[in-house]
Amino acid sequence: MGAAIAGRWRGRAGANTTRRMAPPYERHVFVCTNRRPDGSPRGCCATKGGDELRLALKKELDAQEVKGVRINGAGCLDACERGAAVVVYPEQVWYGPVTTQDVQDLVSTHLKQGQVVERLRMALPIVRKKD
Ligand code: FES
Repeated sequence: MGAAIAGRWRGRAGANTTRRMAPPYERHVFVCTNRRPDGSPRGCCATKGGDELRLALKKELDAQEVKGVRINGAGCLDACERGAAVVVYPEQVWYGPVTTQDVQDLVSTHLKQGQVVERLRMALPIVRKKD
């Protein structure tokens, strides 16, 4: 995977694109930390522990010495009803609801070993409520 990505990645816009650089990360994990006003029918990941989840994932990556993974806080991923929502790229695997109780398994199974944690995979389709 790394070599295929490295071949396409050329750096930031405006940078010297005549030299290719190694991609800084093999995986990006986006954790929704969006907050909506109290009483919103869709709810939000902030009230379902999104911030705590993001921090716990970062801490667990360090604890398990996993390299090449970037944990990013994200705005609404439009999966609010299944939050806290997490998506892992480049595999495009959506997880939710995810809690801090799931962090150790998510890191060891997916981010370290590259295998999807099926029990956490987001159920689709998402039936959305109006805001
Ligand atoms: S608030 Fe998290 S997916 Fe919408």
